[in-house]
Amino acid sequence: MSVAKTFARYVVDQTTRLGGWIKRHQRVNLPRNGPVKVNLGCGLHVAPGWVNIDGSLNALVANSPKWIHSFAYRMSGAKEYYTRDNYQDTLRQNIFIHHDLIYGIPLADQSADFVYSSHFLEHLDRSVGRRLLEECLRVLKPGGVLRIAVPDLECGWELYKLGEKERMIHDFFFAEEMTGFGQHRYAYDYEMLHDALAQIGFANIQRAVFQEGATPDLKLLDNREDYTLFVEAYAPDDSCRSTVSHKVIAENGNLKI
Ligand SMILES: C[S@@+](CC[C@H](N)C(=O)[O-])C[C@H]1O[C@@H](n2cnc3c(N)ncnc32)[C@H](O)[C@@H]1O
Repeated sequence: MSVAKTFARYVVDQTTRLGGWIKRHQRVNLPRNGPVKVNLGCGLHVAPGWVNIDGSLNALVANSPKWIHSFAYRMSGAKEYYTRDNYQDTLRQNIFIHHDLIYGIPLADQSADFVYSSHFLEHLDRSVGRRLLEECLRVLKPGGVLRIAVPDLECGWELYKLGEKERMIHDFFFAEEMTGFGQHRYAYDYEMLHDALAQIGFANIQRAVFQEGATPDLKLLDNREDYTLFVEAYAPDDSCRSTVSHKVIAENGNLKI
């Protein structure tokens, strides 16, 4: 990457981080009609009717005029996967909330029916990831469904044993991605994710299959089958919620969508 591109990338990363920090206390009021479906760390992989939360430049500019989309398209790396029209349509036709999820989920307690997250949890440190899972339980209604997809550490280990060491390091750690949201900071196998969810208080935790499960729109949302671990879990009824103390975020702002 040229020096100019690296510098531009750095400025974009710092700007989106700063935007996330400024909005760290935001709370978003969700529409009350129909089930509330939330996609955490969505990237541009979204489905109609979902509330999509991400800390990236794409989410930051989603509600901006078209010319800003054009600028963001060039800066964000989206052009590697999307045409400009496709990119702009995705931003304009879906609900995006720009939020750095290291500060928790900007939604009220028990406000969501479904929380979905694909290839995002591994971008958080162990302790931050753990807090994020606690936040998922906080925002889910009793009986609500959480679905997590992450690179399966067990598959990484298999790759290593097959001698594909460089590929394992690249695909599982993105070690060379030193800035921004791209770097992986932790890894999970089924047992680790299951135990974390159970300790937090989730119920009926199960390994799930690609594009199958209790979560709606999986044909659109699940986008990587290879090397991916899919897990679904339920928020228990109020009567049997765990006594885990959830991190509560101060309610400073109300952004209406
Ligand atoms: C590998 S992409 C996955 C995108 C999409 N969910 C998918 O399945 O293709 C990881 C996403 O997590 C987002 N992300 C990483 N760290 C984040 C953070 N701290 N807060 C919010 N989003 C974050 C990135 O911006 C990126 O869009």
